[in-house]
Amino acid sequence: MKLADNKATLSFSNGSPSVDLPVYHGNVGPDVVDIRKLYAQTGMFTYDPGFLSTASCQSAITYIDGDKGELLYRGYPIEQLATNCDFMETCHLLLYGNLPDVAAKAAFTKRVSNHTMVNEQMQFFLRGFRRDAHPMAIMTGLVGALSAFYHDSTDINNPEHREIAAIRLIAKMPTLVAMAYKYSVGQPFMYPKNNLSYAGNFMHMMFATPCEEYVVNPVIERALDRIFVLHADHEQNASTSTVRLCGSSGTNPFAAIAAGVACLWGPAHGGANEACLNMLEDIQRMGGISKVGQFMEQVKDKNSSVKLMGFGHRVYKNYDPRAKLMQETCKEVLTALGLENDPLFKLAMALEKIALEDEYFVSRKLYPNVDFYSGIVQRAIGIPVSLFTAIFALARTVGWIAQLNEMIGDPEYKIGRPRQLFTGSVRREVQPISKR
Ligand code: ACO
Repeated sequence: MKLADNKATLSFSNGSPSVDLPVYHGNVGPDVVDIRKLYAQTGMFTYDPGFLSTASCQSAITYIDGDKGELLYRGYPIEQLATNCDFMETCHLLLYGNLPDVAAKAAFTKRVSNHTMVNEQMQFFLRGFRRDAHPMAIMTGLVGALSAFYHDSTDINNPEHREIAAIRLIAKMPTLVAMAYKYSVGQPFMYPKNNLSYAGNFMHMMFATPCEEYVVNPVIERALDRIFVLHADHEQNASTSTVRLCGSSGTNPFAAIAAGVACLWGPAHGGANEACLNMLEDIQRMGGISKVGQFMEQVKDKNSSVKLMGFGHRVYKNYDPRAKLMQETCKEVLTALGLENDPLFKLAMALEKIALEDEYFVSRKLYPNVDFYSGIVQRAIGIPVSLFTAIFALARTVGWIAQLNEMIGDPEYKIGRPRQLFTGSVRREVQPISKR
């Protein structure tokens, strides 16, 4: 970051001396006012619940221009990456900062493939869960448990440990998600097949059985790979900030990523794809497209808690570029599977059309986000709705780990410790129980 020529001056109406605060430029995007010395200089904190105006770190990984609807990984537009690169190349880019050439890609892919199996003991751990447990409950447990199985990569301060933990996490997430699925449907776990692509291997572990040969459908393989690319990183969102905060205490990478998985589960974040599909199915049950108007009235009613899931974003105040790409993939997959007339897709298109023209959504700059179409794609592929967020977690793992490793390598990194504006009782004395 570069120090700007100008400074910010904070003055107070009660005559307290004003303070000058340094301003920094990033390479692109808004400048930041450095308030690190504010407390020492004024005895005051800043107040910013939800981090609406707070940059929590400096980062060189992902850049979003929410007004333009632009998303760049390491400078490359998401549209170019989704069209020209696969998930392994994207992982290499996020982790190491550059797109691999042919040899580097082959070496990286081989490295990841070598780690796709999980310790055999993990399946006994998994069997402790109820069969109907939510896959995200299982994933939170399994990812955290990795630290108990891979002791040799748990020192976050050791760059070699961080590197091997990164590869292990990227390699093992598909195996864990597929195991969680197979367990829920009572089918045998399928071991990974390392001659398949990352997405193809995931499909094999999900949908193959030991009874017959499974052939990967290339359209679905490409669609899944695109889902992974589009979800790979997204700057300092809630789960990534959770991973950074959790990792800032020096805990091991598996524990920090498990915290990210837990955060992602919420319906305001990664859980939105599941919530969106459930919403579409509810409207379909109510009568489908003919009920869209009625549903929209509920969404706009301030007294109802109904939201149009898959719409709106904290940062994008324009069309989410990932949603456009996902809509494209959605059409491709539905056509390939002969589901062009899928009623849920038609319903989604009708909802989107109305919302994009409605004053409520237009004035609030609410556009479809990536989750609006990803649920329809996943459902068409045969992925159960409850597994959607786990697949998001699988894809986001590379972003989380890249961000975590960037933080540990940052000389300015400190344990994260926000402060508060206290509104509780001031000091009082404990009374004996008989007098309370
Ligand atoms: N449906 C209806 N109204 C909405 C929606 C929506 N999906 N999203 C926002 N609004 C309204 C809010 O009620 C608010 O209205 P008001 O100004 O009259 O009070 C206004 O738009 C601003 O919304 P906020 O909630 O203040 O925006 P915030 O940045 O805090 O929230 C969020 C963003 C959480 C994504 C929100 O838009 C939402 O809940 N969307 C639905 C869930 C969803 O799709 N999440 C996925 C996010 S993307 C991802 O994680 C991959």
